Amino acid sequence: MAATMVLTVLAVMASMVAAYDNGVALKPALGWNTWCTLSDCHNGDNNYFDRCNEWELREIAEAMLSNGMHDLGFQYINLDDCWAAQERDSNGNIQPDPSRFPSGMKAMADWLHEKGLKFGLYTSMGTETCNHGGRPLPIPGSFGHYAEDAKTFAEWGMDYVKVDWCGGELNDAQTQHTELSKALNATGRPIWLELCRGYSYDPIPDYVTEVAQSWRITGDHQDEWSNTKTVIEGFMIPSNQAGPNQWNYGDFLMTGGPGCNLNNSDHCPFSSDDEYRTSFSVWTISSSPLIVSTDIRNMTAVMKQCLLNKQAIAINQDHESTPGRLIGQAADANCIASDLRTGDCPIFGRKLSDGTYAAVLLNFADQGTRTVTLPFNWLGVASNQTMAVYDILEQKSLGNFTGSFTAKDLNPHQSIFLSLTAA
Ligand code: GLA
Repeated sequence: MAATMVLTVLAVMASMVAAYDNGVALKPALGWNTWCTLSDCHNGDNNYFDRCNEWELREIAEAMLSNGMHDLGFQYINLDDCWAAQERDSNGNIQPDPSRFPSGMKAMADWLHEKGLKFGLYTSMGTETCNHGGRPLPIPGSFGHYAEDAKTFAEWGMDYVKVDWCGGELNDAQTQHTELSKALNATGRPIWLELCRGYSYDPIPDYVTEVAQSWRITGDHQDEWSNTKTVIEGFMIPSNQAGPNQWNYGDFLMTGGPGCNLNNSDHCPFSSDDEYRTSFSVWTISSSPLIVSTDIRNMTAVMKQCLLNKQAIAINQDHESTPGRLIGQAADANCIASDLRTGDCPIFGRKLSDGTYAAVLLNFADQGTRTVTLPFNWLGVASNQTMAVYDILEQKSLGNFTGSFTAKDLNPHQSIFLSLTAA
């Protein structure tokens, strides 16, 4: 198994296509996005009500600056759908909804930049965005205006653009993504481009690395386990490329639960704290961008435990080592596995640039506890090497182990995020 995984890792490195390096994406992006915090992104039935406006954005930014997230590197404040007015101006320029952003986008960007933060927004490759935000008319997408919109975004001072795949004129994702990417590049302002949809997730096409800094690896991440599970399965696909300037993105992290901010929050939280810890741990070890879409103005205990965990964020940002990958399915008697990607006890692992290791051991089953053993040679560690094992989220030492470490009785959807250092 160990030899197989080492070969797989090398093969993936060798197959990487040249990344599009515009100077902004050496490390995975760390930030926040409006979509789930300020609307109900759980339902997936167009029952959206995006209330984002410049006052809320400032509050979120102030929270990021004061709650410890910015100290750990969180810096992007990203608008999702529904920020734009329903019509372009008389010159054909896209414009913000004046009732929500009366000061305009440039003023918002200037304000964020003065505070040491970065600003991002959302558009669509097609003629319309994906949602109306409860308003009667569609919101314009960028089709037919890629160059003009790129110029507008750059003039406003945008640092990040997420591009969706909605509206008419969705013809060829590679051609259209390339056109937008070139238009952004031509502005001279380095802007992080996130691709959201429009291409196959399995396998992800190579062209994405040449045009963008990150791309979603699955559909929308919603705040409930069956959906979280599909994203984690997306991180298991071995063909995904990831590394400096090219990051696999698992969509928003819903750590803490978006429902907590809604007036009608009768499902608060949607996921359990174990599930939030598991999604955070897999996104983190895989070096996914960590774009949080929960209410960071009110940090709950699990949000602090995850989002303010210095060691975890450092692992996520360790661009000099290969991002974590699925390294096996545990062979314990209670762990039923049919193949590498399908089983009750998947294990993600990576070697870090300082010579230490990290691993996430999961109970992927819906019923019953699982005891999950990580053989150290799956990480490339010699079987006679003693390792000091540390629980990253609980911030506690678990002792010294030789050959393997066993996590006993993990509850359904629970995981343990470990660091391992030669003792
Ligand atoms: C799509 C995207 C989501 C979000 C919404 C906004 O569903 O996948 O991430 O941006 O559109 O309308």
